[in-house]
Amino acid sequence: YVGFGFLFSGQPAAQDEELVEEERPYVLHFSHVVAENTPKGLAAERFAEAVQEKTDGWVDVRIYPNGVRYNAQEEFDALKENEVQMIAPAFSEITRHDPNWYIWDLPYLFSDEAEVQEAFEGELGGELFHSIEQRGFKGMVFWDNGFKQITLDRSFVIYPEDAVDSRFRVMPSDVLHETFERIGGTTETYPFNEVYQRLGSGEIDGTENTLSNIYSKGFYRHQDFLTLTDHNYLGYAVLMNPSFWKDLPPAHQEAVNEALEEATAWLREESAALNEQALYQLRYQEHMHIYDQNELEKAQWRRALQPLYEKYSGIIHEDVMEALPAAES
Ligand code: LMR
Repeated sequence: YVGFGFLFSGQPAAQDEELVEEERPYVLHFSHVVAENTPKGLAAERFAEAVQEKTDGWVDVRIYPNGVRYNAQEEFDALKENEVQMIAPAFSEITRHDPNWYIWDLPYLFSDEAEVQEAFEGELGGELFHSIEQRGFKGMVFWDNGFKQITLDRSFVIYPEDAVDSRFRVMPSDVLHETFERIGGTTETYPFNEVYQRLGSGEIDGTENTLSNIYSKGFYRHQDFLTLTDHNYLGYAVLMNPSFWKDLPPAHQEAVNEALEEATAWLREESAALNEQALYQLRYQEHMHIYDQNELEKAQWRRALQPLYEKYSGIIHEDVMEALPAAES
């Protein structure tokens, strides 16, 4: 091939430049909003290292943590525009783009990690990736974080009425708004990065999040009460820009898939321990009161929130509802 650059410029150097351009490694920009020492932050780093190693640096993964480039909703536009090639948003953020993902926000849907894993690996995971693909995002894998807990400045939230008149920050999912509204609270959907400051200024009274997020972002500094409710599972979908993926040579695709598999397996092993460590740190804070909600108390929430199940099973596609493991129970 004799490049046109050579013919038009009359300089062989132009041809060389073209080759250098072609051989430049693929750069995969990966944006996420949490701290680096969290389940998602650490899995992202593992993934990047594994890709680097498997492709001898030909695929260069650059991570932007802590929402330094985009907040969670902006990430979806950036992915569509191919400004970033990979994101790993929390399920509740995806509901703004695909209502079928509301399913994760139904309160007390999963009672332990094993049930969540079954959902990731089974029909539910498949249905949801199929659904998000119709909306222009390529679903790669599910990543773990853990169950959400509730923090509040003035009291525990053990019974539904304990939330009355408190303002909670939630992610932008209608199910989450309605959950708190049904029990007499109100909600705000500030981006994750703003939560610490909004707690400090008193614009919100409480939060719901995983222990690793509550600890790593310092929310606990403004909160005296932590109720261990485990009311929803907070997990992530790793999403890619479909054209970037399609244009990646098959050997690189394979390397990316293998690296994702390794990071996912590592996270599955470690995410619960990372949240446990955060709980340990929180127990150390003198001002923090911690209460572990029991099954009878959880049952009261379930009763109070039952109408959400009825409403959203009419909004979430029936194929997705039916894909729930043990949907008959
Ligand atoms: C949030 O509360 O916005 C988070 O759960 C963010 C995340 O990605 O964990």
